Amino acid sequence: MTEATGTAPRKRLLIRTWGCQMNVYDSARMADVLAPLGYAPTEAAEEADMVILNTCHIREKATEKVFSDLGRLREAKQAKGGDMVIAVAGCVAQAEGAEITARAPWVDIVLGPQSYHRLPEMVARASRAAGAVIETEFPPEDKFDHLPETTAPQGVTAFLTVQEGCDKFCSFCVVPYTRGSEYSRPAEAVIAEAKRLVALGAREITLLGQNVNAWHGEGPDGRAWTLGRLLRRLAEIPGLARLRYTTSHPRDMDDDLIAAHGDTPAIMPFLHLPVQSGSDRILKMMNRGHTADDYRRLVDRLRAARPDLALSTDIIAGHPGESDADHEATMALIRDTGFAQAFSFKYSARPGTPAATMAGQAAEEVKDSRLAEIQALLRDQQAEFNRSRGGMVVEVLVTGPGRHPGQMAGRTPWLQPVHFDGLANLAGRIVPVKILAGHPNSLSGAMAAPVNTEPRERPAA
Ligand code: SAH
Ligand code: SF4
Ligand code: F3S
Repeated sequence: MTEATGTAPRKRLLIRTWGCQMNVYDSARMADVLAPLGYAPTEAAEEADMVILNTCHIREKATEKVFSDLGRLREAKQAKGGDMVIAVAGCVAQAEGAEITARAPWVDIVLGPQSYHRLPEMVARASRAAGAVIETEFPPEDKFDHLPETTAPQGVTAFLTVQEGCDKFCSFCVVPYTRGSEYSRPAEAVIAEAKRLVALGAREITLLGQNVNAWHGEGPDGRAWTLGRLLRRLAEIPGLARLRYTTSHPRDMDDDLIAAHGDTPAIMPFLHLPVQSGSDRILKMMNRGHTADDYRRLVDRLRAARPDLALSTDIIAGHPGESDADHEATMALIRDTGFAQAFSFKYSARPGTPAATMAGQAAEEVKDSRLAEIQALLRDQQAEFNRSRGGMVVEVLVTGPGRHPGQMAGRTPWLQPVHFDGLANLAGRIVPVKILAGHPNSLSGAMAAPVNTEPRERPAA
């Protein structure tokens, strides 16, 4: 680890992160890149020498938040006599580029998600240059080859980006434009990073990608690997107890990946599989490449491979052209599938996407009432799923102390947060917990005897 003492003056870095887990991962990498320059983290804008806003462009609201935050930062920068580097990173930076500095001239750096390895050079240029430094090309070199290895201690759970970008071009979505085309990191690099994360304390790793199950690459054996093979290999890493991956596209759920859910115990029985709509007409307009029944059949196959699999999804309410009947079809699909958790959104028109100019844009009130109906149903399903765990003894990965003294917090295999009475210092262990109650968003329980505090054995190959 590079120490920030000695020659380099100590500087304070504030990173604010919006959007998906890939942004969370990227923010950590940006902190890694800047650490050798003497930047240490702070939470307070007033004392920051550098502020990075790592932004999300997915819906209009997300984008607007960035500009209101920039307004507040302007004052903080003025209060410091201008002595603050302000950078806008992430998907708004990629989409808006120089528009950002036109609207907020106090911004020094605008950089897209493929440019993070160039931050040190950009910071140096920004301190020399009179104007802003803008970098939103998709450079041909691979940023992953240029980013430093993480040395920061990890929590019990860690993210690992294995895939970036998207070639699917769903009608409503900005991601193909902000993250570029699909790219998979080589298997060797992923395995090495996973080993490093485990050595630094991670027991659960979530593989990340905008289309994580489209991941493919050459394995160490010289063969073409897809995600199922990669997960099986990662499951062999001693000390790595749990694996997850997100976000998946229904079209890329291949036979081997489905089978891996059945034969690889480290893969947790929880899958986020966005469906967006239950109407074939709307799914077609969305360019999703699957029907509602394709999705139902896929869920059946997954549950056949792993009967205790719980599902999560994303739903959009009010895509252009959506009729009452289409909305009812979405409600029916939700009812038929039964989700343990879900995210649902009001359709938000994004500039440059095909849906933004389609006929039949829905009125706000229509979108609001459909979303409310969808969310009520999803809330009931989640509460029901949580209640259904009551009385079970489940394996909980302890993540740290709970809210109250004498309490620990952890996660079930199905990603539910659990609070339970138990001894301290069990973080990183997997312990049996008897679930006493299921609440709308979490579970509570008590440690069940006997306590197995040994790290879980790696699953048999
Ligand atoms: N690759 C991921 C996409 C991440 S975006 C995936 O396919 O799931 C996360 C979710 O945001 C999407 O699944 C979609 O439900 C929602 N979303 C994307 N664009 C949107 C828009 N214009 N309006 C409303 N919701 C949107
Ligand atoms: Fe967006 Fe569709 Fe790609 Fe997901 S699959 S990132 S929703 S274009
Ligand atoms: Fe948002 Fe970009 Fe992620 S638009 S959801 S931060 S890929």
